[in-house]
Amino acid sequence: MHLTREEKLILSGEMGPIKARALEVIVRVGEALGAERLVRIKHAHISGVSYANIGDAGAELIESFSGERFAVPATVNPIGFDLDKPEAFGVDDRFMEGQRRILRALKRMGARLILSCTPYEIPGALDPGLSTGDHVAWGESSAVLYANSVLGLRTNREGGPIALMAALVGRTYYYGLHVPENRVPSIEYIVPGEATRDEALAGVTGEIIAGMHGDQKPPRIKGARPWSKSSLKALLAALGSAGAIGMAHIEGVTPEPLPGSWKPEERVSVDPSLVRSRLEELAPGDPGEVDLVFIGCPHSGEEELRRLASLVKGAGRPRIRFVVAIPRALESAPHLRALIGELRGSGIEVVRDTCIVVSRLRGRVVATNSYKTYFYLKRRGVKVYLASLDDLVALAYHGGA
Ligand code: F3S
Repeated sequence: MHLTREEKLILSGEMGPIKARALEVIVRVGEALGAERLVRIKHAHISGVSYANIGDAGAELIESFSGERFAVPATVNPIGFDLDKPEAFGVDDRFMEGQRRILRALKRMGARLILSCTPYEIPGALDPGLSTGDHVAWGESSAVLYANSVLGLRTNREGGPIALMAALVGRTYYYGLHVPENRVPSIEYIVPGEATRDEALAGVTGEIIAGMHGDQKPPRIKGARPWSKSSLKALLAALGSAGAIGMAHIEGVTPEPLPGSWKPEERVSVDPSLVRSRLEELAPGDPGEVDLVFIGCPHSGEEELRRLASLVKGAGRPRIRFVVAIPRALESAPHLRALIGELRGSGIEVVRDTCIVVSRLRGRVVATNSYKTYFYLKRRGVKVYLASLDDLVALAYHGGA
């Protein structure tokens, strides 16, 4: 791999053994992938920080790098509990201390502890600001897809440790979605209008596309529009969980223009009845058995919270536990604090810093509007159903979808 003078100095230990070790890993992984050089990054988003998922070994790895500061701004994904109420997440002292060790180490390195998978929705999280075409190193597949497809940033799907090491040295390998040619799609999917209607339909559309898309290049998604922010987040999170996809080129959304002469090599129409029937297949057969409704994967933003508040207004209290996960930073705006207060007043548990997938929050039978949550809970053997937000509110407040 070709390295600049400065990169060679870092590797030689001139800037300390921790940075040398971080860069050595990045170079080795890059060489294994065939990258010919490194690229400077402007931001990193570090995933894989929940003690529930990485345990003591992961905490030790992060601590072993914590003698140095990050070279670029870095944000952090959700952790294993809400910092204000760990007891609600069934964590013991060992878990709590393990998680706090991870946070202390990340803080020493200069991370912004947003503890959310939606850094792009948190004011100031990406400061001093990123522009289309900027290179970043993000972990968390849903955020990676959002970065590449909506913000026009360039990142691969990094694992948490690689994103952390990239943040320490301000570089990653120039490979995959950092390279402009690899961002040009070859297969176009014509998606029905249904896909944009709500998060659950967007999610199954993502699953269907991920199931068909064997290509290394990003899928081109056309037809359905306009996309609401929440449907877009759901579609992208589903593409990232059901497939190995890191970007989708979406008509009317993705800021990078396609080359003037671009034509798809293949065009596939997604049948609207397939989208509807797949959602019906995943919907609760017996709504009465559901004991937990979870929304907020990816973390809910203002748009989702407003819709939820309008749906539950005047509906009384839910019959079953109803949890929504949000970024803690949303509470700092007074108008959002009031909105969150309204939701709590309607019996909704609003949790920060975490989510159902990275914590031990569990139900016997879970219903969600997030395909990504459906995908991961199902893999863990939890009984889980997928339904639209309207149907989830009907189920929780009125006993039926
Ligand atoms: Fe975010 Fe947790 Fe879903 S980290 S994307 S809410 S699995």
